Amino acid sequence: MRSAPLLFALAACASPTETTPAIREGDVVRVGSDPHSFAKPEQVRSTHVELSLVVQQVETEHLGARGWLHSLQGLATHTLERRDPAAPFVVDTHALTIDGVGDQDGALAFAFGKHDDILGTPLVISLRPTTTKVTIGFTTRDEGDAIQWLAPEQTGGGKKPFMFTQGQAILTRSWIPLQDSPAVRVTWNAKVRAGTTPVMSAMERRGPDADGTYTFAMPKPVPPYLIALACGDLVSRDISPRCAVWAEPAVIDLAAGEFSDMEKMVQACEQLFGPYRWGRYDVLVLPPSFPFGGMENPCLTFATPTVLAGDKSLVALVAHELSHSWSGNLVTNATWRDFWLNEGFTVYLESRIMEQIYGVDRAAMEVNLGMQELSEEMKTLPAADQKLHIDLTGRNPDDGMTGVPYQKGAAFLRRLEQVFGRTRVDAFLKAWFDQHAFQSVTTNTFVEFLQKELLAQDPDRSKQIDVAQWITGSGLPGDAPVPDSALFAAVDAQLAAWRDGKAPAKLATAGWVTQQWLRLLGGLGKPGKEKLAELDAAFAFTRSGNSEILCAWLVLAIANDYHAVDRRLDLFLMTVGRRKFLKPLYEALLASEDGKTRALAIYEKARPRYHAVSRRTLDAMLGHPAK
Ligand code: BES
Ligand code: ZN
Repeated sequence: MRSAPLLFALAACASPTETTPAIREGDVVRVGSDPHSFAKPEQVRSTHVELSLVVQQVETEHLGARGWLHSLQGLATHTLERRDPAAPFVVDTHALTIDGVGDQDGALAFAFGKHDDILGTPLVISLRPTTTKVTIGFTTRDEGDAIQWLAPEQTGGGKKPFMFTQGQAILTRSWIPLQDSPAVRVTWNAKVRAGTTPVMSAMERRGPDADGTYTFAMPKPVPPYLIALACGDLVSRDISPRCAVWAEPAVIDLAAGEFSDMEKMVQACEQLFGPYRWGRYDVLVLPPSFPFGGMENPCLTFATPTVLAGDKSLVALVAHELSHSWSGNLVTNATWRDFWLNEGFTVYLESRIMEQIYGVDRAAMEVNLGMQELSEEMKTLPAADQKLHIDLTGRNPDDGMTGVPYQKGAAFLRRLEQVFGRTRVDAFLKAWFDQHAFQSVTTNTFVEFLQKELLAQDPDRSKQIDVAQWITGSGLPGDAPVPDSALFAAVDAQLAAWRDGKAPAKLATAGWVTQQWLRLLGGLGKPGKEKLAELDAAFAFTRSGNSEILCAWLVLAIANDYHAVDRRLDLFLMTVGRRKFLKPLYEALLASEDGKTRALAIYEKARPRYHAVSRRTLDAMLGHPAK
């Protein structure tokens, strides 16, 4: 940590001489082959980042009003590969204050290029002929989207503050100045000092040393969106020699029980697709404001507590994030238009793990529910957004986060499996991971590999699948497999009986699992509030401790004016920040005038508790003026 004052001293040095050409403040910096980064790695590329971070969250009191102040201050030292000796070093930033820039010989000149609302601001650093490493001193600002700062009352324990970062897709630039493209992989290490316990997406963790500093290292090259940090009142519980769960003390027992199959999952995936190459696999359970279900930060998946159902019914999320250790983290989408290579493959791997550990029925039901959601969503998506190889130029890559890369992507692999058989597709996928390990790949790379390693081997069978249609076409191809299960047939039979007038309490629901309840809720239609009251009396949906069931139920309740859920709904919207739940709930409210008034009132109160990612989506839906 001593280098911080040193750097500021450097920044104050006389203006450097003999450096690469400077740009003027606000100059337009051309965007290269990744339309979501200003970096020009073909000229100067960062290969390793050394971080020194100080995280501060302190409570203040002024005139009886209490509040929390927070900041992250850091140094990022980049090791450079200088392909064009005359070119400056361009990094992405967003909402970062740059405190100074220097190399081994002193301060370096720097300037910001033109700001872009989606991409942020390029930072252009002039280099000396002798510059091999560049250190950037920075402080994060509150408008940045990567960090969520939580006051103690937003945590399980209620006593200590919490913070976490979210890098994907292009948020890392708002907590670290770097070349924020998934094609620019870096190794990294970090020294972290914080008032609470820090954890990172790293293969090595040491500390605290005498002055309270923790040290982390990621010796494998990763895309920048996979660098992550969380600080809070955290403890861990081992599941196996290489797997552990991290959570606040109040949640750790529940979390360790829920995720006790982690090691089995790693083994299942290894057996199918090759070795787990990241050393440890841990899961960190975050406070409920976490905007996603999960985030596959290497060695340390970040997860929402809303999957802690008590019966392992929602652990497919862990299978999913773990699968990214192959599809996504090992073999990474080179740009965000190739996102389906991350998510489609991962959804496919996820269901293979689920099948192996929990059986064919569980996997089939989960796939079926996913495909059902996709066909609903397809109805509302513009044709251009229904393509796996989507064009996101000029758009926020977050706009590409629909069911298409996930479910259509996975359906494509399932179709390949149907045509060529499991044995061959498994071997093909294993080869894909082995031969592209620690690389960032485009859709074209995949198509060429597919052609050579699978299609060309069996031209006859290849005729059964129109690869171009799958990848560049809109809609869901008619040959998309949709697995079914006898367990769903049983639900459908009860649904039919219910529609014929059978009372909910009389339905044969004994032994039903979560996925069956979700099937039931999905098949109720719009029955009106009296029918919902009967269903509630029989099955206590309003009191469900299963977030998926509860969310589906609340959406139904809103659409049917069933107000017995109102308090439960308020509570849910005030505590849970997971976008996947917030979106349909607010959408349902917005469908009526009364509901709209209510939505706006709740949102006004809840908005400050939501993560920027969820706020962005909801601001647009609710017509809330951003910032
Ligand atoms: N990598 C994603 C989350 C993500 C994608 C964050 C794009 C930011 C931008 C993660 O693996 C994921 O897909 N999470 C899902 C859960 C999963 C079980 C489908 C989620 O959060 O809903
Ligand atoms: Zn994913």
